[in-house]
Amino acid sequence: MDLKQRVLRILEKNRGRNVNGALMAERLSVSRTAIWKIIKQLQDDGYKINAVRNLGYCLEYSNDILSAESIAPYLLGKARSFKLDVRKTVTSTNTLAKEMAVSGASEGTVIIACEQTEGRGRMGRSFYSPGSTGLYLSFILRPKVDLNDSLLITTSAAVAVAKAIEKLANEDVKIKWVNDLYMNDRKVCGILTEASLNVENGGLEYAVVGIGINVTTKDFPDDIRDTAGAIFSNIPENKPVKSILAAEVLNNLSASMDDLTNRSYLLEYKNRSFLIDKEILVLKGNDVLPAKALDIDERARLIVEYSDGTREALSSGEVSVRTINAG
Ligand code: BTN
Repeated sequence: MDLKQRVLRILEKNRGRNVNGALMAERLSVSRTAIWKIIKQLQDDGYKINAVRNLGYCLEYSNDILSAESIAPYLLGKARSFKLDVRKTVTSTNTLAKEMAVSGASEGTVIIACEQTEGRGRMGRSFYSPGSTGLYLSFILRPKVDLNDSLLITTSAAVAVAKAIEKLANEDVKIKWVNDLYMNDRKVCGILTEASLNVENGGLEYAVVGIGINVTTKDFPDDIRDTAGAIFSNIPENKPVKSILAAEVLNNLSASMDDLTNRSYLLEYKNRSFLIDKEILVLKGNDVLPAKALDIDERARLIVEYSDGTREALSSGEVSVRTINAG
């Protein structure tokens, strides 16, 4: 950890409180001038740090620049041992995470970005990922689930993220099977799980769960303007929401990923589902088939009934689902 990170860690731990410069210098075995230079660099990076003579340096409580140091104070239990790699701008956190997984990165490695230039969604779509207003993260897993159960990964992540958003925004979150989270009828989060098959044992070599949350995003592109939304309409002044949200998501993910095959979360998934009992359109290749969504089964597949009475369990790879009249 370099000096900048060590200074930031102390400031983050004391967010909203003054930290004496001389004490910080002593603790880090450097000069007060070295500390002052680092504070200047952090201010240039956009950190709101007040310097008051004789009192020291104070990182403003509401400062919401994402870093491993800003997220760490809110992590609990096993999530505290996750390896966080936080970057300003990346192409896609999923692309990076996959490269790292191939190179052997362990479960619990997390790539977080403030901005993505090539954010990806399902079905080859792009995911709008502007700087500073969203949270874009990818979590590497080495799951011990059967390939047939791989939908459990996305659906348990959806519950983990829904709970995190609900806690922070104090609003109900609905899940549109399989990977979209809605608040007040607007999509506020998408999840893209990408995995690699281990051909020898038929299991998964790794999975990357990519989560994109519109925290305060506005001005969406034309094609999603009528359907996309953000979890906050205004930036909450009183807390570092992106850092807290990232930690909440990771805390919940660590619990749910440990419990993947237990399937107890499926009830929470179903309770938040806004497809069940709705008339929907199932898009299969070039076919658009009207159907009724009946249930989510134990493998997290969507059970639908077509107009001729036949039923089918859908897996996410094969289909895209549209609600009639919305999204
Ligand atoms: C979707 O809406 O179809 C899924 C969107 C998933 C977006 C996230 S943002 C973090 C990660 N990196 C990506 O490129 N995509 C996922």
